[in-house]
Amino acid sequence: MIKVKVPATSANLGVGYDCLGLALNEFASVEFEEIEQGLEIIGCEKAYCNEDNLIYRAFLKGLEAIHKSVSGIRITVDTKIPYARGLGSSAACIIAGLMGANAFFHNPLNKYEIFKLATQMEGHPDNVAPALFGGLCVSFMEDDTPNMIRFGVKRDLLFVTMIPNYEVSTQKAREVLPTTMTYKEAIYQMGRCTALAKAIELGNALIIRKACKDFMQEPYRKVLIPQYDEIKALCNNHDMITTYISGSGSTMISLTQDEGNAQALIKELKRNYPTWDIRLLQATYDGAKYEVK
Ligand code: HSE
Repeated sequence: MIKVKVPATSANLGVGYDCLGLALNEFASVEFEEIEQGLEIIGCEKAYCNEDNLIYRAFLKGLEAIHKSVSGIRITVDTKIPYARGLGSSAACIIAGLMGANAFFHNPLNKYEIFKLATQMEGHPDNVAPALFGGLCVSFMEDDTPNMIRFGVKRDLLFVTMIPNYEVSTQKAREVLPTTMTYKEAIYQMGRCTALAKAIELGNALIIRKACKDFMQEPYRKVLIPQYDEIKALCNNHDMITTYISGSGSTMISLTQDEGNAQALIKELKRNYPTWDIRLLQATYDGAKYEVK
């Protein structure tokens, strides 16, 4: 049996639309066990226990890439990554399936080949890169090949993670975006995106605060998160460094280096939004890993 463990991820980090993403210390575990025939999926909602399951589809894509097959497969899922909330649940499913298939047959694919297959399935590399490699990843496409370079994340950065009780579909969140931007807007965005990556590595709160002000997607997407302005104001009152939409939402994340600030904010969030799932997370350098059991 193969067990794959994949971290949650937070893409965009505000100003890095489709190119920045980091791994968080919340994980999905997926076990793959060969059975005599057919498909068994355990640990998912019933609606996902069928051949459309993303982990299974990625597993099949992995098998196809290495020209192998199995007689049947049992997939057992144990995940702390919420579905369709902007914390990389689809990237985690894809990486788990591909890595599971690869590990079954002693890893004929290297990590960059898995990265490429995963990006094909996901459509963009910003979640799959940190899900696979860990840390803060800057990624970009060259033709149909994703490239990635990894930055560190200062250890004392705390990620107050605010998960609403509703989903936002990535497809819908992409449809609300404009299709063009001016040179002036691109310059605004490029400077901030580049500075933000280095500032997160250094833990430079001043630059994180200034750089993490997105112009490219948050102003269009905030309508999909009715509490967006309220949450931003609340986080500002607690002197957080910055607050952004994680991936395409609905989760918002607020950063601090002060545990006291984080705890005070969490207390107020739990009071104001009792049905939301509020978590205090940190970045992790642990990308996806597997073990043979
Ligand atoms: N970069 C992606 C987006 C992340 O914002 O649409 C969600 O998959």
